[in-house]
Amino acid sequence: MGFREDFLWGGATSANQTEGAYNIDGRGLANVDLAPLGEDREAVLMGKIKMFEFDDKYNYPAKQAIDMFHHYKEDIALFAEMGFKVYRLSLAWTRIFPNGDEEEPNEAGLQFYEDLFKECRKYNIEPLVTISHFDVPMHLVKEYGSWRNRKMVDFYERLCKEIFNRYKGLVKYWITFNEINMVLEAPFLAAGLYIEEHEDADTVKFTASHHELVASALATKIAHEVDPENKVGCMLAANAPYPRTCNPEDIWKAKQVENQSYFFIDVQVRGEYPAFTLKELERKGITLPFVEGDKELLKQHTVDFVGFSYYSSSVVSADPEMTDTIGGNLFPSLPNPYLKASDWGWQIDPLGLRITLNNIYDRYQKPLFVVENGLGAVDVPDKAGYVEDDYRIKYLSEHIRAMRDAVDYDGVDVLGYTVWGPIDIVSASTGEMKKRYGFIYVDRDDQGQGTLKRTKKKSFEWYKKVIATNGKDLD
Ligand code: BG6
Repeated sequence: MGFREDFLWGGATSANQTEGAYNIDGRGLANVDLAPLGEDREAVLMGKIKMFEFDDKYNYPAKQAIDMFHHYKEDIALFAEMGFKVYRLSLAWTRIFPNGDEEEPNEAGLQFYEDLFKECRKYNIEPLVTISHFDVPMHLVKEYGSWRNRKMVDFYERLCKEIFNRYKGLVKYWITFNEINMVLEAPFLAAGLYIEEHEDADTVKFTASHHELVASALATKIAHEVDPENKVGCMLAANAPYPRTCNPEDIWKAKQVENQSYFFIDVQVRGEYPAFTLKELERKGITLPFVEGDKELLKQHTVDFVGFSYYSSSVVSADPEMTDTIGGNLFPSLPNPYLKASDWGWQIDPLGLRITLNNIYDRYQKPLFVVENGLGAVDVPDKAGYVEDDYRIKYLSEHIRAMRDAVDYDGVDVLGYTVWGPIDIVSASTGEMKKRYGFIYVDRDDQGQGTLKRTKKKSFEWYKKVIATNGKDLD
């Protein structure tokens, strides 16, 4: 009973929320650099305000983030001290191809990640690499219109060939796109898409989605060709929509919301679009930009595992009057009277994780990987910088227990679990530093002030024990 012996415990981050050093060693500018702190951030992420250059009136947290570019040795040593078996991180595309369309890569960028992976290996930490965590070179956004353009598949392929060959033997686990279903929710953040006034937003988003799905299948193909040991996963933002009532209309609404996200994973796991999506697109008059060979590519190069993020469940209703939503990983949700919410209104639901694991496993019968889960909270350090984050320990222990139940009682095959933000990082949705997820406190505030000093929180020792006991001791 319990987790498999080789269960991959660890943590997950993304390049733009950690590295900083946005203009060092020839790195180019990316969409994710241009998300400002403050009230306009959401409109930028949604592709409603055009932000293609830095504007002096804003503060851009990704420029510095937690400067992991210069601190990665120290940070990986701390992860190793907790006993990490895996560290999920993403590549900044623009470190490797600063513009995205060059013929030759930037050696400094390639070397940076090679050193980083070697540092992980030094401690027997398996890197799990997200090839694109919401990351698109701005040159590709400006010159080609990002993923609405088929040429993106070629640029992404070039990146994949480079990294699979260069990191062969160093990296075995890959994820093609972070939270691929976010293209529909936050198109600029997720895919570098700014929707022009004359454009039909759905057409742009589904066109871009198709290109990403083709690129993902191509990446899977190349990864397996370069090294048959490679394991490639997809990645879903799971939002576990619950119907607000037992009114069949609400049940149907929840099903539709769920399908909207699952269709991406259906393509990546089953190799073809589900009928409900094809019908929906037909009704909307949208033609997917299939070219010769796409159908076979999608069918033949499906993923090895299904990764997903899970923070909270959500509640949906068919009633158009029900508009009083609260927070939740870019998915609007109605309040759930049975649940408490985090400081940011994300409703805390450990059983929802077990439900989600079961839903995904029932649907695909593929090994699953919980690649993001965690609690964003306001931490108040004492004078020495120490945080007693019992609320985080409670959240995580309840979620790990629910995951263990899914394994023990429901027979779900789970490969691993990476806590989101094992070290405090910049929040993707708000750009804040004060929304902290880490086991390690970073002295930096929303305005970028602070020493960047790292200090272990109470949860650090707790997670170390969880890993040492392979998830048996969660108290
Ligand atoms: C996921 C993203 O959506 O949620 C991460 O993959 C993000 O990049 C995480 O940081 C938590 O969201 P937030 O907004 O609290 O940072």
